[in-house]
Amino acid sequence: MQFFKSYFSHLPTLETERLILRPLRMRDAEDLFAYAKDPEVSKHVLWETHRSIWDSRMFLRAAIRQYRQGQPGSFAITLKQSGRMIGTIGFMWINIEYKSGEVGYSLSRDYWNRGIMTEALREVLRFGFEELELNRIEAQHETSNPASGKVMEHAGMRFEGVLRQRIKNKGCYVDVALYAILRGDPRE
Ligand SMILES: CC(C)(COP(=O)(O)OP(=O)(O)OC[C@H]1O[C@@H](n2cnc3c(N)ncnc32)[C@H](O)[C@@H]1OP(=O)(O)O)[C@@H](O)C(=O)NCCC(=O)NCCS
Repeated sequence: MQFFKSYFSHLPTLETERLILRPLRMRDAEDLFAYAKDPEVSKHVLWETHRSIWDSRMFLRAAIRQYRQGQPGSFAITLKQSGRMIGTIGFMWINIEYKSGEVGYSLSRDYWNRGIMTEALREVLRFGFEELELNRIEAQHETSNPASGKVMEHAGMRFEGVLRQRIKNKGCYVDVALYAILRGDPRE
């Protein structure tokens, strides 16, 4: 328990070819609002479209509170080239007993289809296995959001099935596809 708490209360900064993954901070509010106000981005995630920068500030405040409490949380995805914060990726939950967890993510529409989330997910899976010492990492996407399934596949996660009406999103029950990768599985 203390092991995970100390990781999430001092989330490290991770680096990939094009990205820096670092803890969220209040100064990200403008960059976050720039994409979180887009209903196409929020359509398949569990947060509501941000109506004003206050929503983005509330979101960041909640994320920072989670860090303080040592709870699983998200990294800001930032572009090395511009320093701009363009999305988030992180752990939704961790099961300490089973050494498992679930990853979730979202990205500004301006940057879709350039392999950015695949690059970020590969690094977060590496972090989960090598640093958090997890055994199984899951991710799920609404079946109406196949691009997210492609990201999971590209990062080496395997499709395990469809969970019918598993969640209620924006007032409707939706089917989700479950993916997972085990510590011993090949990573792409
Ligand atoms: C889903 C999302 C994370 C993808 O991020 P991304 O950086 O664009 O992903 P990548 O570029 O790494 O890979 C996307 C893949 O999906 C494919 N794709 C895009 N639109 C697609 C569609 N409608 N149907 C099927 N595949 C699609 C792309 O061609 C690409 O695959 P390829 O490399 O084999 O060609 C991004 O669109 C997003 O943040 N959406 C809004 C929030 C969200 O849905 N979050 C996930 C919740 S589970």
